[in-house]
Amino acid sequence: MVTLGIETSCDETSVAVLHDSRVLANIVSSQVAHTKFGGVVPEIAARNHIKVIVPLTRNALEVAGKDLYDVDLISVTRGPGLVGALLVGLSYAKSLAISLNKPLIGVNHLEGHIYGLQLGGVLPRHPYLVLIVSGGHTEIVLVGEPFHYRTLGRTLDDACGEAFDKVAKLMGLPYPGGPYIEKRAAQGKRRTIDFPVPRPEGLSFSYAGLKTAVLYYTRDNPRYDVNDVAANFQEVALEHLVEVATRAMSETGVKDLGLVGGVTVNKRLREKFFALAEKMSMHLRVSPVQFCTDNAAMIARAGMERFKRFGPSDLAIDVVARERLEDIT
Ligand code: KG4
Ligand code: ZN
Repeated sequence: MVTLGIETSCDETSVAVLHDSRVLANIVSSQVAHTKFGGVVPEIAARNHIKVIVPLTRNALEVAGKDLYDVDLISVTRGPGLVGALLVGLSYAKSLAISLNKPLIGVNHLEGHIYGLQLGGVLPRHPYLVLIVSGGHTEIVLVGEPFHYRTLGRTLDDACGEAFDKVAKLMGLPYPGGPYIEKRAAQGKRRTIDFPVPRPEGLSFSYAGLKTAVLYYTRDNPRYDVNDVAANFQEVALEHLVEVATRAMSETGVKDLGLVGGVTVNKRLREKFFALAEKMSMHLRVSPVQFCTDNAAMIARAGMERFKRFGPSDLAIDVVARERLEDIT
């Protein structure tokens, strides 16, 4: 079965081709137009998706050695995300499905990230926990059985990646800030600034307080060292993830944890979780970096699995700005 995956939920346009579970092509075009605004501008994102989606699809099929008539299933992100951006991908996917007379499946972006784990050849055993850490989401999810999700905790305010981006911006680093913070942090000294580890109730996350603490520190110390601020912010931001994940494991008794989402590319994050895995004798699962940040291969994989179990989506499906994993229809 050949699945064409399409992802346009934010500022990455991506098209992938899978033959069964094998990734033949996974092309990602990141929009640089947002850099000068220091964040994603929804209108610009949608317009850029329109510009590149057709050539990107041609390119992905060429890399995969397939043509449109080989495609058996079209899998597309329907949300959550930016409505205008999602509409480009969904409308294009629908037009392909109608003209090729092939089934369409709409995929939840977070479920896509969860299936990103399997693209790395990891087949987690149920039940397992997934920590989703991206620019839009920070959640810890229990996957009891295939397609059954229970979100144990999510962020009360900013997502972790969003905090990386905002802290980078206030220090004058480019957008998206995560990779720049990581680079600067590697040259800074950890545990030299006293930023508090956020400790909201239960298994919730919170990054607004930490972001504000960094803002005040940089205001009060105009000659601050960017590397040191980055190192201390990053350490605390990641420690928060480790603490919540540890509590989730002890509360559920589940010792199988997958890490997904753009922030899990971060090497210090991986280092901290691998240290935790050793300490807690748990199974830690991570994907190669190309399947952690937004990509269409994960959408194709999730769509293929969902199609095999539940059949195609109705061609009348719409995009959804928000959709919890529990509410996937
Ligand atoms: O999953 P993703 O590609 O898109 C969303 O669904 O949001 O995640 C993007 C986020 C951005 O906030 C970006 O700054 C962050 O992931 N990110 C990183 C790193 N690479 C990307 N954060 C920390 N360290 C990194 N190396
Ligand atoms: Zn994402």
